[in-house]
Amino acid sequence: MNLKEALKIADHIIFDKTGQHLDDLQEAVLKGTLERETYKHIAKEFDCSESNVRQIGSELWQILSEELGEDVNKKNFRSAMERLEVSIYSNVAQEESVQINSVNICAEGRHQPNIPNSRPPNQETSHQDLSEMPELGDFFDRTSSLDTLTTWILQQHSHLITLTGSSGIGKTTLAVQLVQQIKNEFEYTAWYTLDEFPTIDKFQSNLIQLFSNSQKQDSSPTNQKPLPLIKYLQNHRCLIILDDVHNLFCSGELAGKYKPECEEYRTLFKQIEKLSHQSCLMLIGWEQPREVTQVKSQNTSIRSLQLKGLDIAAGRKILIDYGLAESDNIETLIHRYQGNPIWLKSVATLIQELGGCVNQLLPNDTILLPEDLKDVLQQQFSRLSELEKQVISLLAKASDAINLTQLLENSQIPASDLVNALQSLSRRCLIEQQAKFYTISPVLRQYATIILGA
Ligand SMILES: Nc1ncnc2c1ncn2[C@@H]1O[C@H](COP(=O)(O)OP(=O)(O)O)[C@@H](O)[C@H]1O
Ligand SMILES: [Mg+2]
Repeated sequence: MNLKEALKIADHIIFDKTGQHLDDLQEAVLKGTLERETYKHIAKEFDCSESNVRQIGSELWQILSEELGEDVNKKNFRSAMERLEVSIYSNVAQEESVQINSVNICAEGRHQPNIPNSRPPNQETSHQDLSEMPELGDFFDRTSSLDTLTTWILQQHSHLITLTGSSGIGKTTLAVQLVQQIKNEFEYTAWYTLDEFPTIDKFQSNLIQLFSNSQKQDSSPTNQKPLPLIKYLQNHRCLIILDDVHNLFCSGELAGKYKPECEEYRTLFKQIEKLSHQSCLMLIGWEQPREVTQVKSQNTSIRSLQLKGLDIAAGRKILIDYGLAESDNIETLIHRYQGNPIWLKSVATLIQELGGCVNQLLPNDTILLPEDLKDVLQQQFSRLSELEKQVISLLAKASDAINLTQLLENSQIPASDLVNALQSLSRRCLIEQQAKFYTISPVLRQYATIILGA
């Protein structure tokens, strides 16, 4: 690392904290440390006592540790500066200033380190664990969702992003495309898909393994104890994707309630939201943590995207690819199945296997529900609370969209419970709201009628 740059960055941090630039002795201590000199040697060079140099050193390490949020000392000062340099290089191109914990390092101005305009981490400096990321198949539409997510991550430096939507709508596919496009902007990129027993230990140890493997490759082996996960996310620019996060939450409850054994994730997510860093965690699933859904303000570091179905052009490509012809009323099918690619694939397969044109022979409002589509819906329905099932039944029985007053009239459910259930169902993307009226899609209506006897 360039000595002058390291001293400039350190000077900037000290100035930010104390309002004073490094004096000659402080600079000599940092310079000597970067050159791997002993305190004794630095003292001799500067013609002062060794205890004086030690004292200055210890004050500097304390300020640097506080400002960088990690333990900085004589042994690791050089590597801390190198890591900081990488973060600055990788971020200064996108913004005029870079926030490293509480320190704002400006790309312009009096204290600007002499930094080239852009140097994103390239293939050599970026480390990835994408073994759990699915392969990308066809990818249609979604330009605006991709743009939104890219802006949130790369320009707004959002810390926590949630991507929700019903099963099969295309969340995972969208995220895979996103990761392919932006992964080289990060030092570390990792994708983990949560199973039914998603202990935080498993997640932490996977990630810490990634960090420690790459650090062994990058430098001499260290025997240091692993840091808490958040420290790694603070020290490096990371993009972490957690898919199927609904596995963190209780079945049979309103959406987004942590299972008791997953409570530690709450703490981690809170740290990721609140603390200063350059990393981003993206949560994908049918549900998101309750505290995330409460945040709508643009001033927070959290962003949420609820994914809707594909547009007509993309839906048409899927249906034609699955062997349907325009005579199969393609556009009606896309509307009816809400552009949900997995629903479209399922119904197209059924029509195709029966020789095509099936829906021309059936009454106009027939909703085909192939068994594999029922399986997809069953997975999401099986998570609903009793209260939500009652509300879905009410909506399925009503021939049209109905408002709160009508819902209350038609049920015995206390008003506050009803409202909570509606909110939860809306977060699960199972109901639709038009102004003050609520309804469910024809496919869900049909399914609810079968399984809930609506
Ligand atoms: N944008 C898209 N273009 C084409 N096919 C898509 C698209 N999004 C999803 N699909 C297909 O739809 C199916 C479900 O997508 P997936 O991403 O697994 O949904 P989710 O994660 O929301 O359950 C997959 O077969 C996938 O290939
Ligand atoms: Mg998925």
